[in-house]
Amino acid sequence: MSGSFHALMGSVDPPMYVVTARGADGEPVGCLVGFATQVSIRPPRFAVLVSRLNHTFGPAMAAEHLVVHVLRKGDDDLARRFGGETADDLPDGGVDKFVGLAVRDGPGGAPVIDGLDWFGGRVFGRYDCGDHVAVVLDPEGGEAPRAALPAYGLQDAFGVVDPGHPA
Ligand SMILES: Cc1cc2nc3c(=O)[nH]c(=O)nc-3n(C[C@H](O)[C@H](O)[C@H](O)COP(=O)(O)O)c2cc1C
Repeated sequence: MSGSFHALMGSVDPPMYVVTARGADGEPVGCLVGFATQVSIRPPRFAVLVSRLNHTFGPAMAAEHLVVHVLRKGDDDLARRFGGETADDLPDGGVDKFVGLAVRDGPGGAPVIDGLDWFGGRVFGRYDCGDHVAVVLDPEGGEAPRAALPAYGLQDAFGVVDPGHPA
């Protein structure tokens, strides 16, 4: 049963997101997230699931706001950067993952990566789901300059990104 479940989940193509937050030192942190979905229409709410293993986990548990960026076809480099590397391995915490990217403050000061589609979210609640914690967001603000492009999905990431932390 478990094997077929994992095979089935590996066969579908959910969109990939980059979820960002500010660390305790104010520096941006972030990781690639495939476990994410809208969970309510009225009011609009969206859940992202963050692994306890990730560097991003601590800041995501402490933050009042997160930013969710939508990746688009061709975003292999961003997927590798945020999903294939962990800030735990870098000397300066989360800073290096953002090198070369233009980052500005979004809702609540959470980091927005320029040029990407994104929305901010005030944290509505956190729910222990096992090895991941669901962070449910009330969306706040955002931009969609690339909305006409197809989304970057799980199938795009296969063979391109090995998770920075094992799942
Ligand atoms: C295809 C793919 C999907 C992923 N989905 C998630 C996810 O839903 N939640 C999560 O916390 N990490 C997910 N990861 C893992 C993190 O993005 C990865 O371990 C990252 O390097 C962690 O960075 P950090 O330690 O700097 O936070 C995924 C990785 C890949 C390659």
